[in-house]
Amino acid sequence: MKVAVIGTGYVGLTTAVSLAMNGHHVIGIDLVEAKIVKLRQGISPIYEPGLEEALRQVLAAGTLAFSTQLSEAKDADVFFVCVGTPEADDGTADLTYLYSAVAAIKEVHNSALQKRVVVIKSTVPVGTGDKVADLLDGCQELSVASNPEFLREGSALLDAIEPSRIVIGVSDPSTGEVMEQLYKGVNAPRVVTTRANAELIKYASNAFLATRISFMNELARLSTALGTDIATIAHGMGLDSRIGPEFLRAGVGYGGSCFPKDTIALLQLAAQNGISLSILEKVREVNATQPVWFLQQLQKLVPDCRGKRIAVLGLAFKPDTDDIREAPSLSILHELTEQGAAVFAYDPVAEDAVKQSFPNVTYTKTAEEALAGADAALLVTEWKECVQLDWERIRQSMAQPVLLDGRNAWPAQTVKQAGFTYIGVGKS
Ligand SMILES: NC(=O)c1ccc[n+]([C@@H]2O[C@H](COP(=O)([O-])OP(=O)(O)OC[C@H]3O[C@@H](n4cnc5c(N)ncnc54)[C@H](O)[C@@H]3O)[C@@H](O)[C@H]2O)c1
Repeated sequence: MKVAVIGTGYVGLTTAVSLAMNGHHVIGIDLVEAKIVKLRQGISPIYEPGLEEALRQVLAAGTLAFSTQLSEAKDADVFFVCVGTPEADDGTADLTYLYSAVAAIKEVHNSALQKRVVVIKSTVPVGTGDKVADLLDGCQELSVASNPEFLREGSALLDAIEPSRIVIGVSDPSTGEVMEQLYKGVNAPRVVTTRANAELIKYASNAFLATRISFMNELARLSTALGTDIATIAHGMGLDSRIGPEFLRAGVGYGGSCFPKDTIALLQLAAQNGISLSILEKVREVNATQPVWFLQQLQKLVPDCRGKRIAVLGLAFKPDTDDIREAPSLSILHELTEQGAAVFAYDPVAEDAVKQSFPNVTYTKTAEEALAGADAALLVTEWKECVQLDWERIRQSMAQPVLLDGRNAWPAQTVKQAGFTYIGVGKS
């Protein structure tokens, strides 16, 4: 099939590459010319494991091309909308990019062709697909499907190739058939439903995952007070098949481009409908205070950070991505610099994204460099470069052997044996 993918960010680029790998003829469209120039050269503007190699393969095979002009894709059978839906000032999802992409499709599509489908992959509030269908009402040959994306940054391509499920929201069977043809050969459970259901499945999934994280983070505070070990507790809980082991890791809080904005957007959607989602409100509250709680643990060992050298390892909101949107590292850097600490930070790929906001932080080329001479070290993102360290050597190089493990990823026994004072999240 001929496919246009509008927006070549984390979701759009991954979608474009995976569809091209499956033999579709894909054109990726983006407003940002610099991105398109890079993409045409086989350079990925984002960091995702395996994505650049796959991009080069499909470019060489001729199944993927890029343009800034949607008119070059006017004959597409399917138009994927993968543009950002960021948080507006009032917490709702800002649909400006989405509606402008839809207007562009309406303008350029070739009305002489057979039925075509506009697929909304961006995360959008319930009712958006119907509104888009209304906007396209005059175009008989265009129908609208909701097809939310569930990929995880850090394993985006793998998740796109082997998705956990494919959710398809349609209002007529023939649109569903086009979607089925599009995903032919992709082995994943299908949920074919209404557009509204599909839209809510996405928000509900993210809200539930955020809930699990905040539940464990709050429990970790109790675990610290009781002297119990949250990792062991999570393991014991996760063995229950009704609970499962995923998303039970306590840490410094969730971040990224989805959970923070999607939870507030869901709360706003609920409020607009006269419903209070009080659990979700608490989830957000716990998450907002988790970095603060984490830094309170540091205070137990370094009561006054002024003039102290503090190493921060990891800046991306999670490993294997360069995405720093809403990353807990940002509030941690803010707080430490406010307190007058000399912060030395390391991240294998996310340094450039953080630099502009925190010019007073010293960025190092290695974790070891950040740790040398430090009065305390904080693990914020569990990159393997930040976790697999020669602890004997690090012990020699630090001014004070103080480790604060925000991801419970450092080997507690080993570092204690090496002479460090170690505090994890919710660990005795
Ligand atoms: N990032 C994730 O992990 C993830 C996962 C699932 C769902 N989502 C959802 O998918 C959507 C996209 O997220 P993302 O992280 O890929 O965003 P992103 O910011 O990385 O990329 C969006 C891209 O769209 C482009 N764009 C905006 N308006 C355009 C237009 N009119 N025409 C062409 N290009 C345009 C931007 O230049 C940008 O490159 C959001 O709704 C998000 O909530 C994201």
